[in-house]
Amino acid sequence: MTTNQFEQLNRMRRRLNLYKQKLKESREEYAKLQKEYDQLALQSSYLESVGKLAAGIAHEIRNPLTTIKGFIQLVRPYLIDIQKEEYADISLDEIERANKILFQFLNAAKPQKKETRIVSVNKLIEEMALLYEGEASLQGISIKTVPSSDNPSILIDEYQLKAVLVNMMKNAFEAIRASERIQGRICMRTEIRGAHSVISIHDNGCGIPQETIASLFTPFFTTKTTGTGLGLIICKNIIHDFGGDIQIRSRLGEGTTFYIELPLANEYIMHA
Ligand SMILES: Nc1ncnc2c1ncn2[C@@H]1O[C@H](COP(=O)(O)OP(=O)(O)O)[C@@H](O)[C@H]1O
Ligand SMILES: [Mg+2]
Repeated sequence: MTTNQFEQLNRMRRRLNLYKQKLKESREEYAKLQKEYDQLALQSSYLESVGKLAAGIAHEIRNPLTTIKGFIQLVRPYLIDIQKEEYADISLDEIERANKILFQFLNAAKPQKKETRIVSVNKLIEEMALLYEGEASLQGISIKTVPSSDNPSILIDEYQLKAVLVNMMKNAFEAIRASERIQGRICMRTEIRGAHSVISIHDNGCGIPQETIASLFTPFFTTKTTGTGLGLIICKNIIHDFGGDIQIRSRLGEGTTFYIELPLANEYIMHA
């Protein structure tokens, strides 16, 4: 071997070693990245399922709370008789507080992924009426449903639309309470207007002054001492998200109607 060849061999050996070292580092880097990725993937699917579980649990807690509330309201007159009504009042306040926290939590824990499917709006308003039947009769409020004979369907995440209706029913109850009316009335109606399905919720509550209507969808706008002012803005965001809109008609001292307009499902339009 000549000196020249020997030097060339040495240079090649050095380069080979350098590449070996680089390869080792790259392999280590790759393993580290893979580990990080696996951990993140695991964490995000864990968070997603925990979020769903928490929302489910919150939902399940609300139902027994409503029953307990109803019973406490029923025994309250007997507690008044023995001058212990504060037991009922404190319990009711606490239930209200728990409900409020759950309600806000449910909205925050709302699944990010939309689960859209075809929903019959007639079925939905009947379900809502059933849900509020107990509370309404306790408060002397009648709930009426007027379903459209066309049976309109929309493509939506039912869970999110229910959250909108729950918010609006809650507002209707509160408006009737504020009006101190003897006979409160809530009417939920469905109809078709052009390519839209309209769900309207009417109450004969306190009504809204015309100059206030424009502020209703401003976050934190509330006229209630214990209000959050978040209900309607959440409703608006959800409805806009599904390509719809909300209209309001109200007369002070007479009542209010909220109109939720949503695009009719294509399938329905084709068969109409
Ligand atoms: N059905 C209704 N009748 C009268 N006023 C209403 C009705 N719905 C909403 N409002 C008014 O809109 C405001 C904002 O409503 P919302 O965003 O649900 O917040 P909150 O109910 O916490 O006040 C209420 O404080 C009330 O003044
Ligand atoms: Mg509200």
